[in-house]
Amino acid sequence: MPAPTATDRAGVADAIRVLPHRAMRSLLISLSHRRSLARIAVRSQLTRPIVARFVAGETLDEALSAIAALKRAELHTTVDVLGESVTSPELATAACDRYVATLSALASRGLDPNVSVKLTQMGLEIDPALCRSNVERILEAARAVGGFVRFDMEDHTRTDATLTLWREAHETYPRTGVVVQSALRRSAADVEWIVAAGGSVRLCKGAYAEPRSVAYLNKSTVDANYARLMERLLTSGSYHAIATHDPRLIGRAMEITTREGIDRDRFEFQMLYGVRRDLQRMLVRRGFTVRIYVPYGREWYPYFMRRLAERPANVGFMLRAIVKEESRRIRGR
Ligand code: FDA
Repeated sequence: MPAPTATDRAGVADAIRVLPHRAMRSLLISLSHRRSLARIAVRSQLTRPIVARFVAGETLDEALSAIAALKRAELHTTVDVLGESVTSPELATAACDRYVATLSALASRGLDPNVSVKLTQMGLEIDPALCRSNVERILEAARAVGGFVRFDMEDHTRTDATLTLWREAHETYPRTGVVVQSALRRSAADVEWIVAAGGSVRLCKGAYAEPRSVAYLNKSTVDANYARLMERLLTSGSYHAIATHDPRLIGRAMEITTREGIDRDRFEFQMLYGVRRDLQRMLVRRGFTVRIYVPYGREWYPYFMRRLAERPANVGFMLRAIVKEESRRIRGR
Protein backbone atom coordinates (compact mmCIF):
# COMPACT_ATOMS: atom_id res chain seq x y z
CA MET A 1 0.00 0.00 0.00
CA PRO A 2 1.46 3.42 -0.93
CA ALA A 3 2.07 5.93 1.86
CA PRO A 4 -0.69 8.60 2.17
CA THR A 5 0.32 11.87 0.55
CA ALA A 6 -0.19 15.44 1.76
CA THR A 7 -3.27 15.56 -0.54
CA ASP A 8 -4.70 12.46 1.17
CA ARG A 9 -4.14 14.09 4.54
CA ALA A 10 -5.88 17.28 3.44
CA GLY A 11 -8.76 15.08 2.14
CA VAL A 12 -9.27 13.65 5.62
CA ALA A 13 -9.54 17.15 7.08
CA ASP A 14 -11.98 18.20 4.32
CA ALA A 15 -14.19 15.16 4.93
CA ILE A 16 -14.46 16.23 8.54
CA ARG A 17 -15.23 19.84 7.73
CA VAL A 18 -18.21 18.96 5.51
CA LEU A 19 -20.04 16.91 8.16
CA PRO A 20 -22.43 19.19 10.08
CA HIS A 21 -21.33 19.77 13.68
CA ARG A 22 -24.42 18.18 15.22
CA ALA A 23 -24.18 15.05 13.02
CA MET A 24 -20.50 14.66 13.89
CA ARG A 25 -21.23 15.12 17.59
CA SER A 26 -23.98 12.45 17.56
CA LEU A 27 -21.77 10.08 15.59
CA LEU A 28 -18.85 10.42 17.99
CA ILE A 29 -21.06 10.09 21.06
CA SER A 30 -22.67 6.95 19.65
CA LEU A 31 -19.19 5.54 18.88
CA SER A 32 -18.21 6.30 22.50
CA HIS A 33 -20.52 3.45 23.63
CA ARG A 34 -18.89 0.84 21.33
CA ARG A 35 -16.86 -1.53 23.50
CA SER A 36 -15.21 -3.20 20.48
CA LEU A 37 -13.84 0.17 19.32
CA ALA A 38 -12.69 0.91 22.86
CA ARG A 39 -10.60 -2.28 22.87
CA ILE A 40 -8.97 -1.40 19.53
CA ALA A 41 -8.32 2.23 20.52
CA VAL A 42 -6.80 1.35 23.89
CA ARG A 43 -4.39 -1.14 22.25
CA SER A 44 -3.40 1.25 19.46
CA GLN A 45 -0.24 3.29 19.82
CA LEU A 46 -1.42 5.76 17.17
CA THR A 47 -3.96 7.59 19.31
CA ARG A 48 -1.56 7.97 22.28
CA PRO A 49 -0.27 11.51 21.66
CA ILE A 50 -3.71 13.08 21.29
CA VAL A 51 -5.20 11.04 24.15
CA ALA A 52 -2.35 12.31 26.35
CA ARG A 53 -3.59 15.83 25.77
CA PHE A 54 -6.89 15.07 27.54
CA VAL A 55 -5.92 12.24 29.94
CA ALA A 56 -3.30 12.69 32.65
CA GLY A 57 -1.93 9.15 32.34
CA GLU A 58 -2.97 5.55 32.71
CA THR A 59 -1.57 5.09 36.23
CA LEU A 60 -2.06 6.84 39.54
CA ASP A 61 1.62 7.81 39.63
CA GLU A 62 1.35 9.53 36.24
CA ALA A 63 -1.77 11.36 37.40
CA LEU A 64 -0.10 12.46 40.64
CA SER A 65 2.80 14.01 38.69
CA ALA A 66 0.36 15.88 36.43
CA ILE A 67 -1.64 17.10 39.44
CA ALA A 68 1.54 18.25 41.23
CA ALA A 69 2.49 20.25 38.10
CA LEU A 70 -0.97 21.85 38.02
CA LYS A 71 -0.63 22.73 41.70
CA ARG A 72 2.70 24.46 40.98
CA ALA A 73 0.79 26.55 38.43
CA GLU A 74 -1.74 27.43 41.20
CA LEU A 75 -4.48 25.35 39.63
CA HIS A 76 -6.78 23.28 41.87
CA THR A 77 -7.88 19.83 40.76
CA THR A 78 -10.59 17.20 40.91
CA VAL A 79 -9.70 13.67 39.86
CA ASP A 80 -11.75 11.33 37.69
CA VAL A 81 -10.59 7.71 37.88
CA LEU A 82 -11.74 6.79 34.39
CA GLY A 83 -14.39 4.13 33.84
CA GLU A 84 -18.16 4.06 33.46
CA SER A 85 -21.04 1.65 32.83
CA VAL A 86 -19.20 -1.25 34.48
CA THR A 87 -20.58 -4.71 33.71
CA SER A 88 -19.98 -6.66 36.92
CA PRO A 89 -20.06 -6.10 40.69
CA GLU A 90 -16.34 -6.98 40.83
CA LEU A 91 -15.50 -4.20 38.36
CA ALA A 92 -17.58 -1.70 40.34
CA THR A 93 -15.83 -2.65 43.58
CA ALA A 94 -12.41 -2.46 41.89
CA ALA A 95 -13.25 1.04 40.60
CA CYS A 96 -14.31 2.05 44.11
CA ASP A 97 -10.99 0.69 45.48
CA ARG A 98 -9.11 2.83 42.98
CA TYR A 99 -10.96 5.94 44.16
CA VAL A 100 -10.19 5.16 47.80
CA ALA A 101 -6.51 4.64 46.96
CA THR A 102 -6.48 7.85 44.91
CA LEU A 103 -7.91 9.92 47.78
CA SER A 104 -5.35 8.56 50.18
CA ALA A 105 -2.44 9.14 47.73
CA LEU A 106 -3.58 12.71 47.04
CA ALA A 107 -3.83 13.52 50.75
CA SER A 108 -0.48 11.97 51.60
CA ARG A 109 1.24 14.10 48.93
CA GLY A 110 -0.43 17.33 50.01
CA LEU A 111 -2.58 17.48 46.83
CA ASP A 112 -6.32 18.33 46.69
CA PRO A 113 -8.25 15.27 47.93
CA ASN A 114 -11.06 16.13 45.55
CA VAL A 115 -12.63 13.52 43.25
CA SER A 116 -15.43 13.34 40.68
CA VAL A 117 -17.42 10.10 40.53
CA LYS A 118 -19.83 8.54 38.01
CA LEU A 119 -22.54 6.32 39.46
CA THR A 120 -22.55 3.86 36.55
CA GLN A 121 -18.92 3.15 37.43
CA MET A 122 -19.98 2.34 41.00
CA GLY A 123 -22.51 -0.26 39.77
CA LEU A 124 -25.73 1.77 39.36
CA GLU A 125 -26.86 -0.37 36.42
CA ILE A 126 -26.05 -3.65 38.17
CA ASP A 127 -27.35 -3.18 41.68
CA PRO A 128 -28.33 0.17 43.21
CA ALA A 129 -27.52 -1.14 46.72
CA LEU A 130 -23.99 -2.04 45.63
CA CYS A 131 -23.66 1.39 44.02
CA ARG A 132 -24.78 3.09 47.23
CA SER A 133 -22.33 1.13 49.36
CA ASN A 134 -19.44 1.85 46.97
CA VAL A 135 -20.26 5.55 46.96
CA GLU A 136 -20.42 5.50 50.75
CA ARG A 137 -16.97 3.96 50.92
CA ILE A 138 -15.62 6.82 48.77
CA LEU A 139 -17.44 9.41 50.89
CA GLU A 140 -15.92 7.92 54.06
CA ALA A 141 -12.45 7.89 52.50
CA ALA A 142 -12.89 11.53 51.48
CA ARG A 143 -14.16 12.51 54.91
CA ALA A 144 -11.13 10.85 56.56
CA VAL A 145 -8.82 13.23 54.66
CA GLY A 146 -11.03 16.35 54.63
CA GLY A 147 -11.76 15.80 50.93
CA PHE A 148 -14.62 16.62 48.57
CA VAL A 149 -16.68 14.36 46.30
CA ARG A 150 -18.52 15.66 43.23
CA PHE A 151 -21.17 13.43 41.65
CA ASP A 152 -20.62 13.72 37.89
CA MET A 153 -23.77 13.77 35.76
CA GLU A 154 -24.24 11.20 33.01
CA ASP A 155 -27.02 11.09 30.40
CA HIS A 156 -30.62 12.02 31.24
CA THR A 157 -31.63 8.44 32.11
CA ARG A 158 -29.35 8.72 35.17
CA THR A 159 -30.26 12.24 36.31
CA ASP A 160 -32.89 11.23 38.88
CA ALA A 161 -30.78 8.45 40.38
CA THR A 162 -27.72 10.70 40.62
CA LEU A 163 -29.60 13.61 42.21
CA THR A 164 -31.38 11.30 44.66
CA LEU A 165 -28.18 9.61 45.80
CA TRP A 166 -26.38 12.95 46.07
CA ARG A 167 -29.26 14.40 48.15
CA GLU A 168 -29.13 11.46 50.59
CA ALA A 169 -25.35 11.62 50.78
CA HIS A 170 -25.31 15.36 51.33
CA GLU A 171 -27.23 15.05 54.60
CA THR A 172 -24.39 13.05 56.14
CA TYR A 173 -21.49 14.28 54.01
CA PRO A 174 -21.80 18.04 53.43
CA ARG A 175 -18.54 18.12 51.45
CA THR A 176 -20.22 16.77 48.34
CA GLY A 177 -21.61 18.41 45.24
CA VAL A 178 -23.48 17.52 42.11
CA VAL A 179 -23.57 18.54 38.43
CA VAL A 180 -26.35 20.28 36.50
CA GLN A 181 -26.39 20.40 32.68
CA SER A 182 -27.79 23.48 30.93
CA ALA A 183 -28.80 21.28 27.98
CA LEU A 184 -31.57 19.69 30.04
CA ARG A 185 -35.00 21.33 30.19
CA ARG A 186 -35.44 20.29 33.84
CA SER A 187 -32.29 22.04 35.08
CA ALA A 188 -33.81 25.36 36.23
CA ALA A 189 -36.07 23.42 38.62
CA ASP A 190 -33.17 21.24 39.79
CA VAL A 191 -31.01 24.29 40.50
CA GLU A 192 -33.77 25.72 42.71
CA TRP A 193 -34.11 22.70 44.99
CA ILE A 194 -30.34 22.05 45.13
CA VAL A 195 -29.73 25.66 46.19
CA ALA A 196 -32.55 25.39 48.77
CA ALA A 197 -30.91 22.20 50.11
CA GLY A 198 -27.61 24.08 50.54
CA GLY A 199 -25.87 22.06 47.82
CA SER A 200 -22.97 23.00 45.60
CA VAL A 201 -23.54 22.81 41.85
CA ARG A 202 -21.03 22.35 39.07
CA LEU A 203 -22.78 23.92 36.10
CA CYS A 204 -21.84 22.51 32.69
CA LYS A 205 -23.49 22.41 29.26
CA GLY A 206 -23.84 18.60 29.03
CA ALA A 207 -21.69 16.18 27.09
CA TYR A 208 -24.28 13.59 25.99
CA ALA A 209 -26.52 13.25 22.93
CA GLU A 210 -29.98 13.72 24.39
CA PRO A 211 -33.48 13.55 22.81
CA ARG A 212 -35.44 16.72 22.08
CA SER A 213 -38.12 15.65 24.60
CA VAL A 214 -35.75 16.33 27.52
CA ALA A 215 -33.03 18.57 26.12
CA TYR A 216 -32.39 21.72 24.10
CA LEU A 217 -30.65 20.65 20.91
CA ASN A 218 -29.80 24.11 19.67
CA LYS A 219 -26.39 25.30 20.92
CA SER A 220 -27.48 28.91 21.34
CA THR A 221 -30.42 27.82 23.54
CA VAL A 222 -28.10 25.65 25.66
CA ASP A 223 -25.74 28.64 26.03
CA ALA A 224 -28.59 31.03 26.91
CA ASN A 225 -29.87 28.60 29.53
CA TYR A 226 -26.31 28.29 30.86
CA ALA A 227 -26.14 32.08 31.29
CA ARG A 228 -29.48 32.10 33.17
CA LEU A 229 -28.57 29.23 35.49
CA MET A 230 -25.11 30.69 36.08
CA GLU A 231 -26.59 34.01 37.20
CA ARG A 232 -28.98 32.20 39.55
CA LEU A 233 -26.09 30.22 41.08
CA LEU A 234 -23.64 33.10 41.37
CA THR A 235 -26.20 35.26 43.14
CA SER A 236 -27.50 32.44 45.38
CA GLY A 237 -25.08 33.17 48.22
CA SER A 238 -23.58 29.67 48.20
CA TYR A 239 -20.43 28.29 46.58
CA HIS A 240 -20.75 26.85 43.07
CA ALA A 241 -18.50 25.89 40.14
CA ILE A 242 -18.80 27.44 36.71
CA ALA A 243 -17.50 24.68 34.41
CA THR A 244 -16.98 25.92 30.88
CA HIS A 245 -14.27 26.96 28.41
CA ASP A 246 -16.64 29.32 26.67
CA PRO A 247 -14.99 32.77 26.84
CA ARG A 248 -18.32 34.57 26.40
CA LEU A 249 -19.85 32.81 29.42
CA ILE A 250 -16.70 33.32 31.47
CA GLY A 251 -16.82 37.03 30.61
CA ARG A 252 -20.49 37.08 31.61
CA ALA A 253 -19.64 35.47 34.98
CA MET A 254 -17.07 38.22 35.55
CA GLU A 255 -19.64 40.90 34.71
CA ILE A 256 -22.22 39.42 37.09
CA THR A 257 -19.78 39.03 39.99
CA THR A 258 -18.40 42.56 39.52
CA ARG A 259 -21.89 44.06 39.29
CA GLU A 260 -23.15 42.14 42.35
CA GLY A 261 -19.97 42.58 44.40
CA ILE A 262 -19.45 38.82 44.67
CA ASP A 263 -15.94 38.02 45.95
CA ARG A 264 -13.66 35.74 43.98
CA ASP A 265 -13.60 33.24 46.84
CA ARG A 266 -17.39 32.72 46.56
CA PHE A 267 -17.21 30.61 43.39
CA GLU A 268 -14.73 28.84 41.13
CA PHE A 269 -14.21 28.21 37.46
CA GLN A 270 -13.63 24.64 36.34
CA MET A 271 -12.09 23.37 33.12
CA LEU A 272 -11.01 20.05 31.65
CA TYR A 273 -7.42 18.84 31.66
CA GLY A 274 -5.78 19.84 28.38
CA VAL A 275 -8.53 22.20 27.20
CA ARG A 276 -7.86 25.94 26.86
CA ARG A 277 -4.73 25.94 29.04
CA ASP A 278 -4.21 29.58 28.03
CA LEU A 279 -7.56 30.55 29.53
CA GLN A 280 -6.90 28.49 32.67
CA ARG A 281 -3.67 30.35 33.33
CA MET A 282 -5.08 33.75 32.43
CA LEU A 283 -7.87 33.33 35.01
CA VAL A 284 -5.34 32.30 37.69
CA ARG A 285 -3.24 35.37 36.87
CA ARG A 286 -6.35 37.50 37.35
CA GLY A 287 -6.90 36.04 40.82
CA PHE A 288 -9.75 33.58 40.14
CA THR A 289 -9.93 30.07 41.59
CA VAL A 290 -9.65 27.55 38.75
CA ARG A 291 -10.10 23.82 39.25
CA ILE A 292 -8.99 21.37 36.59
CA TYR A 293 -10.86 18.11 36.02
CA VAL A 294 -8.07 15.54 35.77
CA PRO A 295 -9.00 12.12 34.36
CA TYR A 296 -6.63 9.18 34.55
CA GLY A 297 -6.81 5.44 33.94
CA ARG A 298 -6.80 2.88 31.18
CA GLU A 299 -10.51 3.23 30.39
CA TRP A 300 -10.20 6.55 28.65
CA TYR A 301 -12.09 5.71 25.46
CA PRO A 302 -15.65 7.04 26.20
CA TYR A 303 -14.28 10.14 27.96
CA PHE A 304 -11.93 10.82 25.05
CA MET A 305 -14.70 10.39 22.46
CA ARG A 306 -16.86 12.95 24.27
CA ARG A 307 -13.94 15.39 24.11
CA LEU A 308 -13.68 14.81 20.35
CA ALA A 309 -17.42 15.34 20.03
CA GLU A 310 -17.18 18.73 21.73
CA ARG A 311 -14.84 20.05 19.10
CA PRO A 312 -14.90 18.33 15.70
CA ALA A 313 -11.60 20.04 14.81
CA ASN A 314 -10.04 17.61 17.32
CA VAL A 315 -11.05 14.73 15.05
CA GLY A 316 -9.22 16.26 12.10
CA PHE A 317 -6.21 16.81 14.29
CA MET A 318 -6.28 13.18 15.46
CA LEU A 319 -6.83 11.69 11.99
CA ARG A 320 -4.02 13.79 10.52
CA ALA A 321 -1.71 12.53 13.28
CA ILE A 322 -2.73 8.93 12.58
CA VAL A 323 -2.31 9.25 8.81
CA LYS A 324 1.10 10.88 9.33
CA GLU A 325 2.17 8.11 11.70
CA GLU A 326 0.90 5.40 9.31
CA SER A 327 2.72 6.94 6.35
CA ARG A 328 5.93 7.07 8.39
CA ARG A 329 5.46 3.40 9.31
CA ILE A 330 4.80 2.37 5.69
CA ARG A 331 7.83 4.33 4.43
CA GLY A 332 9.99 2.76 7.13
CA ARG A 333 9.12 -0.81 6.04
P1 FDA B 1 -18.32 24.83 24.18
O1 FDA B 1 -18.49 23.39 23.82
O2 FDA B 1 -19.23 25.83 23.56
O3 FDA B 1 -16.82 25.22 23.94
C1 FDA B 1 -16.34 26.54 24.10
C2 FDA B 1 -14.89 26.58 23.63
O4 FDA B 1 -14.08 25.77 24.49
C3 FDA B 1 -14.68 25.95 22.25
O5 FDA B 1 -14.88 26.91 21.24
C4 FDA B 1 -13.23 25.49 22.34
O6 FDA B 1 -12.35 26.56 22.17
C5 FDA B 1 -13.12 25.04 23.77
N1 FDA B 1 -13.40 23.59 23.91
C6 FDA B 1 -14.50 23.03 24.49
N2 FDA B 1 -14.37 21.69 24.49
C7 FDA B 1 -13.20 21.40 23.90
C8 FDA B 1 -12.49 20.19 23.62
N3 FDA B 1 -13.00 19.01 23.93
N4 FDA B 1 -11.29 20.28 23.00
C9 FDA B 1 -10.75 21.47 22.70
N5 FDA B 1 -11.36 22.66 22.93
C10 FDA B 1 -12.57 22.63 23.53
N6 FDA B 1 -20.54 17.13 31.13
C11 FDA B 1 -21.49 16.30 31.62
O7 FDA B 1 -22.44 15.97 30.89
N7 FDA B 1 -21.41 15.82 32.89
C12 FDA B 1 -20.41 16.18 33.74
O8 FDA B 1 -20.37 15.72 34.89
C13 FDA B 1 -19.41 17.07 33.24
N8 FDA B 1 -18.37 17.47 34.02
C14 FDA B 1 -17.53 18.47 33.57
C15 FDA B 1 -16.55 18.99 34.42
C16 FDA B 1 -15.79 20.08 34.01
C17 FDA B 1 -14.78 20.64 34.95
C18 FDA B 1 -15.98 20.62 32.71
C19 FDA B 1 -15.20 21.82 32.25
C20 FDA B 1 -16.90 20.07 31.86
C21 FDA B 1 -17.66 18.98 32.27
N9 FDA B 1 -18.59 18.41 31.40
C22 FDA B 1 -19.52 17.52 31.91
C23 FDA B 1 -18.51 18.66 29.95
C24 FDA B 1 -19.43 19.79 29.52
O9 FDA B 1 -20.77 19.39 29.62
C25 FDA B 1 -19.14 20.21 28.07
O10 FDA B 1 -19.39 19.11 27.20
C26 FDA B 1 -17.74 20.72 27.82
O11 FDA B 1 -17.26 21.47 28.90
C27 FDA B 1 -17.69 21.61 26.57
O12 FDA B 1 -18.51 22.71 26.74
P2 FDA B 1 -18.01 24.22 27.00
O13 FDA B 1 -18.81 24.74 28.13
O14 FDA B 1 -16.57 24.27 27.17
O15 FDA B 1 -18.50 25.04 25.75
